[in-house]
Amino acid sequence: MSRRMIIAGNWKMNKPPSQAAEFIRQLVPLVADAEAEVVCCVPAIDIVPAVEAAKGSNIRIGAENMYFEEKGAYTGEIAPDMLVDAGVSHVILGHSERREYFAETDEMVNRKVKAAFAHGLIPIICCGETLKQREQGITIDWIRQQIKIAFQDITPEQAAAAVIAYEPIWAIGTGKVATSGQAQEVCHAIRQLMGELYGPEVAEQVRIQYGGSVAPANAAELFSQPDIDGGLVGGASLKPDFGQIVHWK
Ligand code: 13P
Repeated sequence: MSRRMIIAGNWKMNKPPSQAAEFIRQLVPLVADAEAEVVCCVPAIDIVPAVEAAKGSNIRIGAENMYFEEKGAYTGEIAPDMLVDAGVSHVILGHSERREYFAETDEMVNRKVKAAFAHGLIPIICCGETLKQREQGITIDWIRQQIKIAFQDITPEQAAAAVIAYEPIWAIGTGKVATSGQAQEVCHAIRQLMGELYGPEVAEQVRIQYGGSVAPANAAELFSQPDIDGGLVGGASLKPDFGQIVHWK
């Protein structure tokens, strides 16, 4: 079977609502005939106008985070149901910036993954090593641990529908992209782990993205690796360049 490529933008904390709608409208014709699935993950306050602007197009709107509880006294948080109600299809979970600046743990990521599936959202589950960990030679061990915990109590059907984003932290926002060999090695190890946890069919179906300084100039090389099924794109997703990345071939 062949997996459908998925190219997702992660806007991070960029673009106010007025610009969000305008940019999505600009993007619509640039990605209209894409073979890949196209997702723009936007700040929470941009979700409603972005969904409106993407109506009738092939652009799906994703969130950059959510909380795992259903509702209640959690000031400042957003529940899975709220995202679904607003028209969101995907949600980035466990991004390294959330782990670093907002103290998200593997256990919290696991609770969020479970909540996403319980509400029909597709999680884009992030993992990645620091430069120090890479230099220590523990990259694969570290990634395996992150993924194992993120997928605790996740069923094979859910796992097959998940998207995993491998984002080496040293490659994020630095312009220092991983080589296609480095990215392929880790994405292959992730697929192998999914095989150990869920069997060969799930390993074959789960989609694994690379993220970290993806740009029009390096997308083709990265995305043509056998275990890389697309990208999670930060900086370049804020510009019309995103259209070129979507048409990476
Ligand atoms: P950059 O593409 O800006 O390096 O960001 C990558 C990223 O963190 C996407 O989630």
